[in-house]
Amino acid sequence: MKHRCFSIVFILLVLAHVTVFDTIVLAKDVKLPSLKLKATPFSKAKPHSRSPCLPKILPPQDYLSTTYYLTSCPDLEGIIQNKINAWIQRDYTTAASIIRLHFHDCAVRGCDASILLNHAGSERRAEVSKTLRGFEVIDEIKAEVEKRCPKTVSCADILTAAARDAMVMVGGPFWEVPFGRKDGTISHGREAHMVPQGHENVTALIEFFQSRGLNILDLVILSGSHTIGRSTCNSIRPRLSYFKNTVMAEPPIDVKYLNFLKKQCRRDSNYANLDATTPTTFDSMYYTNLEKKRGLLLTDQLLHSDARTAPIVAALAPQPQLFISQFAVSMVKLGNVQLLTGKNQGEIRRNCNYVNP
Ligand code: HEM
Repeated sequence: MKHRCFSIVFILLVLAHVTVFDTIVLAKDVKLPSLKLKATPFSKAKPHSRSPCLPKILPPQDYLSTTYYLTSCPDLEGIIQNKINAWIQRDYTTAASIIRLHFHDCAVRGCDASILLNHAGSERRAEVSKTLRGFEVIDEIKAEVEKRCPKTVSCADILTAAARDAMVMVGGPFWEVPFGRKDGTISHGREAHMVPQGHENVTALIEFFQSRGLNILDLVILSGSHTIGRSTCNSIRPRLSYFKNTVMAEPPIDVKYLNFLKKQCRRDSNYANLDATTPTTFDSMYYTNLEKKRGLLLTDQLLHSDARTAPIVAALAPQPQLFISQFAVSMVKLGNVQLLTGKNQGEIRRNCNYVNP
């Protein structure tokens, strides 16, 4: 037994080292070999297979497992994938909307599907959530899943897997999704304001991510989701009108790009692509754009000018493979924020819009 304990502790130390190594080497702006992680190591943990060497109380994400629905809903991932593919084939912009929805869910009260609750005063009904889309996609998936495996699969798990499949459909990486989240029963509109809106400074972004167990590398990597999708002009209005003289603009903005945006954004309800160069492809052009002062959101461009994040942007711009592989790692971490997994925590909602009666 002593020998077994030693081996497990040794493996844990090696895994911990890998994570720290990733962060440190990137911060030094050194080219990294491509990482081949599909998911963080804990995704392989099974819910009831505790070793006597580990502490009795594990972090919630250790109760998730990629095989969680293996017997209770074996076709789950196929159902989600088919629906997501069909939606994206009909409307390509669905992909970005689902990925953003997953972020907004995990950002408030953790990944508990609180963003899907549709009642007066909920996060979803808040003014700041009005540009969120894709709710009907999750409803359609949930309806099909309930037919096949009633009262079994949480809306939080469905949204997490849907975001992964949406990412794959637009050329992003595949990663294994650990399952076992429960759905929350609380959603407050005022809490939706916690999610960054695009006018924050980098310190605020870092603090927001850190308070959810995500580090600076995760911030820069996950912001790379803006390699696809769009923003309403309303969200960038201050960036366009405030800086009359672009020499004074902070962070700076490319003059040609600014002029283009001014034309594009004659109305607040118009849209502009978050990635000015390759808006429909999952690639590292988002970071290259930042280097050319063509970041759409203020918060995007600031990542290039802040000393804490700039070296990571510089490392990612020329290394699309590094971005892609690290993106999968950070997405698994995002999906593990503040989980409800205990027996008495949360529920499996029958309809994602409402708490069970
Ligand atoms: C770092 C802090 C972040 C800020 C300040 C931010 C801000 C924004 C804003 C302002 C928009 C446009 C909203 C509008 O239509 O007016 C947007 C769109 C989007 N965001 Fe973020 N975001 C952040 C992080 C993330 C993360 C972590 C993800 C995903 C993991 C994400 C995914 C997306 C996607 C895919 C869109 C496009 C949505 C669509 O086309 O419908 N964002 N974001």
